[in-house]
Amino acid sequence: MALYVKAAEILEKAENKQGALKTLVYDSKFKNIKQLFALVFETQKFSSILQEIIESTKLLKQTKLSIHLAKVLVHDLLMGRGLKCGGSWKTMMMKHRSRLQSVLARMKVKQGVSKNIDLLPAGTVGPAGVRLPRYVRVNTLKTTVDDTVDYLKRDGFSYLGKASKLEDLTLKAKYFVRDLHLPEVLVFSPKTDFHDHFLYKAGHIILQDKASCLPAYLLNPPPGSHLIDACAAPGNKTSHLAAIMKNKGRVFAFDLDAKRLATMSTLLLRAGVTCQQLANQDFLKVDHDSSQFKDVEYILLDPSCSGSGMVCLRDDDSTAGEEKNQARLTSLASFQLRCLNHALKFPRLKRLVYSTCSIHSQENEEVVTACLQQNPCFRLVPLLAQWPERGLPPLNQCLRASTDKTRTHGFFVALLEKYTDAGKTKQKPEVQTSIPEETPQDLSQGEERPAGSEEESEASEADDKPTPAAVQTGSTPGKKKKRKKKKKKKTAAPVE
Ligand SMILES: C[S@@+](CC[C@H](N)C(=O)[O-])C[C@H]1O[C@@H](n2cnc3c(N)ncnc32)[C@H](O)[C@@H]1O
Repeated sequence: MALYVKAAEILEKAENKQGALKTLVYDSKFKNIKQLFALVFETQKFSSILQEIIESTKLLKQTKLSIHLAKVLVHDLLMGRGLKCGGSWKTMMMKHRSRLQSVLARMKVKQGVSKNIDLLPAGTVGPAGVRLPRYVRVNTLKTTVDDTVDYLKRDGFSYLGKASKLEDLTLKAKYFVRDLHLPEVLVFSPKTDFHDHFLYKAGHIILQDKASCLPAYLLNPPPGSHLIDACAAPGNKTSHLAAIMKNKGRVFAFDLDAKRLATMSTLLLRAGVTCQQLANQDFLKVDHDSSQFKDVEYILLDPSCSGSGMVCLRDDDSTAGEEKNQARLTSLASFQLRCLNHALKFPRLKRLVYSTCSIHSQENEEVVTACLQQNPCFRLVPLLAQWPERGLPPLNQCLRASTDKTRTHGFFVALLEKYTDAGKTKQKPEVQTSIPEETPQDLSQGEERPAGSEEESEASEADDKPTPAAVQTGSTPGKKKKRKKKKKKKTAAPVE
């Protein structure tokens, strides 16, 4: 019974887009996470079919069940391996079983199909884990990539080296590769499950989609820096940031949700993170002038979003829900913009990464564009020229990710950088990723860790304050002159 109560609760939240399905399941602390995820995932997949069955049998009226509870129960009764509960619910559902079964059978006859799966509209996305590779981020606070590879080889996995093209990420059985873009990411076949693996339990590896590793990698705060993770829970990106900072410096992490923050605390402990300061606080109310934050130079902002990029959350965007969706997107975008504007007020801020797991431009390019118009002291840094999917024009400095083009969940990342003192002070970013597209000869090198490069410094050294239009496109007056000068430099200078 507990399984169905929890599944119904999560299904309701997922269908109301109150969070990503996986996160909701893992946050639930249910004892059999795998069983819960499978049930909610499959029920959500067949949600519209189950709704139709429930409506045509008038099940809710006769049983007084809530729609979400009815869906999970009917799913297991008709499409799963039978009900996993006894007692009054089982008796009640068995009473209605034959009527429910005959509605399902009629639907199949009407559509001329024999399997439940064929009732789903063509193109319905399959389970996330079935299509996307299993990405693993090596936690460098506890181990190294080489040691992890060796351990996995001894554990029966077959290492194929570093991937060189996207196709290399399509793997079978126990083969694995090192990712072609992110050096600390290993890639496995979609069905690989590490939840019970020693490396996962010991915090040596973090199960994190590749796209969600981009924000910390691109922000690349140096050890010793002070940083804010504005909407931090459950903390995968926080632990990545701490690893990049080698646990040196300070990460101020905020989240509104106490429960998620508690989960985060456990995850950070397991990951060996020690430089964090967690606060159950509304980031919008954090005082940017407080002396506590006087040294904050980096901010990661990964605010609540529609989650429309999460493969398992995608729906059929039915016209009925469109108006509701639009209103929700408008409200999310306005929240995201407020967070961004607030973040840019921290007095010593140098660089900020904004990310979402949304595919809607309203939450991505439009938020960033509006923010840059309101904050002309900031501009976009061109990111990872070798990444296959860019932000929508004209924001091609930003990155997008998708199942088709990057074999990840849908994602968006922008890196904003502050102009310094009306251009008098030169500032050189230490992120290797801001490579302008016009220098293709340097793109093939694919350095393992963001480190200063000639090209990126172009994007941050221009000393003119841009017009809003220049801010949006990242074009900076005087760029060519700078490039010539920089060509002679071989090594990267640290930031200031
Ligand atoms: C997309 S999730 C963050 C995921 C996280 N960055 C990670 O990688 O694990 C967004 C988070 O923002 C939190 N949140 C929403 N509004 C907030 C606010 N005003 N201040 C702080 N946190 C907020 C939510 O509770 C949620 O945990």
